[in-house]
Amino acid sequence: MPRQLFVTTALPYANGNFHVGHIMEYIQADIWVRYQRMMDHAVDFVCADDTHGAPIMIAAEKAGITPQQFVANIAAGRKPYLDGFHISFDNWHSTDGPENHELARQIYRDLRDNPDGSLIDVRTIEQFFDPKKNMFLPDRFIKGECPKCNAKDQYGDNCENCGAVYAPTDLINAYSALSGAKPELKSSEHFFFKLSDPRCVAFLEAWTQDGKLQPEVANKIKEWFTLRTNPDGSTSEGLGDWDISRDAPYFGIEIPDAPGKYFYVWLDAPIGYLASLKNLLEKRGQDYDAYMANPALEQYHFIGKDIVTFHTLFWPATLHFSGRKTPNNVFVHGFLTVNNGEKMSKSRGTGLDPLKYLRLGMNPEWLRYYLAAKLSARNEDIDFNADDFMARVNSDLIGKYVNIASRAAGFIAKRFDGKLGHVSEDGAALLLQLRNERVNIEQLYETREYAKAMKETMLLADRVNAYVDANKPWDLAKKPEQETRLQDVCTVCIKAFRILTCYLKPVLPTLAEQVEHFLKIGPMSFANLQEPLAAGHVIGTYQHLMQRVDAHQLDALFEPPEPVKQAQDAIKTEAPGGEDMAPTIGIDDFAKVDLRIAKIINCEAVEGSTKLLRLTLDAGEGRLRNVFSGIASSYQPAQLVGKLTVMVANLEPRKMKFGISEGMVLAASHADGKTDSGIYVLEPVAGALPGMRVH
Ligand code: MSP
Ligand code: ZN
Repeated sequence: MPRQLFVTTALPYANGNFHVGHIMEYIQADIWVRYQRMMDHAVDFVCADDTHGAPIMIAAEKAGITPQQFVANIAAGRKPYLDGFHISFDNWHSTDGPENHELARQIYRDLRDNPDGSLIDVRTIEQFFDPKKNMFLPDRFIKGECPKCNAKDQYGDNCENCGAVYAPTDLINAYSALSGAKPELKSSEHFFFKLSDPRCVAFLEAWTQDGKLQPEVANKIKEWFTLRTNPDGSTSEGLGDWDISRDAPYFGIEIPDAPGKYFYVWLDAPIGYLASLKNLLEKRGQDYDAYMANPALEQYHFIGKDIVTFHTLFWPATLHFSGRKTPNNVFVHGFLTVNNGEKMSKSRGTGLDPLKYLRLGMNPEWLRYYLAAKLSARNEDIDFNADDFMARVNSDLIGKYVNIASRAAGFIAKRFDGKLGHVSEDGAALLLQLRNERVNIEQLYETREYAKAMKETMLLADRVNAYVDANKPWDLAKKPEQETRLQDVCTVCIKAFRILTCYLKPVLPTLAEQVEHFLKIGPMSFANLQEPLAAGHVIGTYQHLMQRVDAHQLDALFEPPEPVKQAQDAIKTEAPGGEDMAPTIGIDDFAKVDLRIAKIINCEAVEGSTKLLRLTLDAGEGRLRNVFSGIASSYQPAQLVGKLTVMVANLEPRKMKFGISEGMVLAASHADGKTDSGIYVLEPVAGALPGMRVH
């Protein structure tokens, strides 16, 4: 019976390009999807950009563009990664698309108007508010002194220095990381999802503990039903209600009947799975409601271990209590590290740049194979190790598998016009052994035990190679009377190669396609593996199927980019610029200094001084300022007239021998004050205007 599957990967934040951790998740899911398709099941495999939330709104503001433009720019960069690593999504959409706005609002209404009692609660809470930016501050945009160890510049939820967990209101001298302003406590109405409702607790306990989830995942979740950590570090019993609203300004979806209130990004993000599916079905002219109403439809999500709460509590509860079908399962994977390095950070990524990998001409299927050879159904971290990568690809994938074809194909082409022969008894026995593993391999793919599937397949390849070594086609080829035996042995190899290729096809889709072309056969699937390659079938000429990994490619892959390398080489050990860095200051210290762009309207020598120049500056404040600057040794006055520079605008006016100086111009120099290393007045990059503040 063909199954109907709806499969997703987590929706990546639209705040940056993919790193190799994302690619790993997509490859894991893609292998599963391709396997299902090879079983003749119908799969719709979708993803989308996760676009909403305060961080993206703020990043867009900093970049001087709208959040819509910001996420569109990120979306435009997705294709080369997905195509490059052969990820076969049927659709890529956005959580800011109209489908998601509509679905999120409808699901919310259904939760609110649940006939057995609303799951939504409205409460007034107190939160930090930035009076300068006129907005409520998310925890990560509030900084201050740790209440436990007094470390400065710590985030609003926990201290990176001593590890303490606290509420933003516990911070000493809290300030807004956006404006430097002192945040004020302000109350606001928030919407809550009543996770603590007994109906909800009962439903979730059953949903998470019925045996479908990975055992290690289910065990972890069990703890959440008995204990939870509050924002202030204390603990309470049971599930807490979930705050699902944020106040304007927020980049998100407006809550129905609540002007100025938006859904917290994690409410609408998973709904984006449905929105992307809906968008796909609409493009195909299929009806979304009918599709979802199919009782046989199976729904699966591939996610990483950091977002389990959202997918095993919030998401099933959201679906169930809005009267919708819940996922059949959520498959959790661990994190990928690179060369035992730190885990890839969400924003930075480290080590292995997927696009650089492709640019270097490295085969995407090497990575697919390597990750498959390491992935299991367990939620555990895996490491990309360069030496291990090269060994597995070169000795297993190429040494054991690809070589089977190259060892046999030449003889078939040269001696037998490409015609396959008959198979003798010993060969038939070998092929039967290979075929008999099919159900086992299928089961391993189905249960996401890819490492075991790769291992089994390589063991089968070992058997084929042992058969080749025992029959020595290169010796047979020297003996005319062994002509038939030679054709027989090589035919067995080719047929064995076809079976192995089928087993590897979910992992190596383009290699498998090349093999289909070379063997002149249709697309292989688990369903059609039993169809024989008849004697007399003519195969094509063998062309090398896959290169070996070259150590130089790996060196190049992990080599820092050229500018970083040059900078590293140039780093000196003495004090920079002749003086040690000044002690650390807080952002509030820095914020006291008002730096402004100023236009140099006039500049002239100062009679009686060899050091000073007199500058007339316009900082856009409706008056001009007179500033003396000790830069006469480095500039002719005419050089500076008309230029923009940076001025300290709130420096106390100073009476000097030649008049009052009403500010200070910024200039760089070496600490030794030697005139030969020069003095350099700061000039902003084109586009700055007089009066703009320098932050
Ligand atoms: N936007 C949310 C997910 C919303 S789903 C409705 C998010 N985005 S993310 O870009 O930070 O992560 C996307 C996926 O990549 C997550 O499943 C996450 O676990 C996974 N990974 C992030 N770093 C990873 C590794 N280093 N290794 C493997 N997967 C990693 O979370
Ligand atoms: Zn601390």
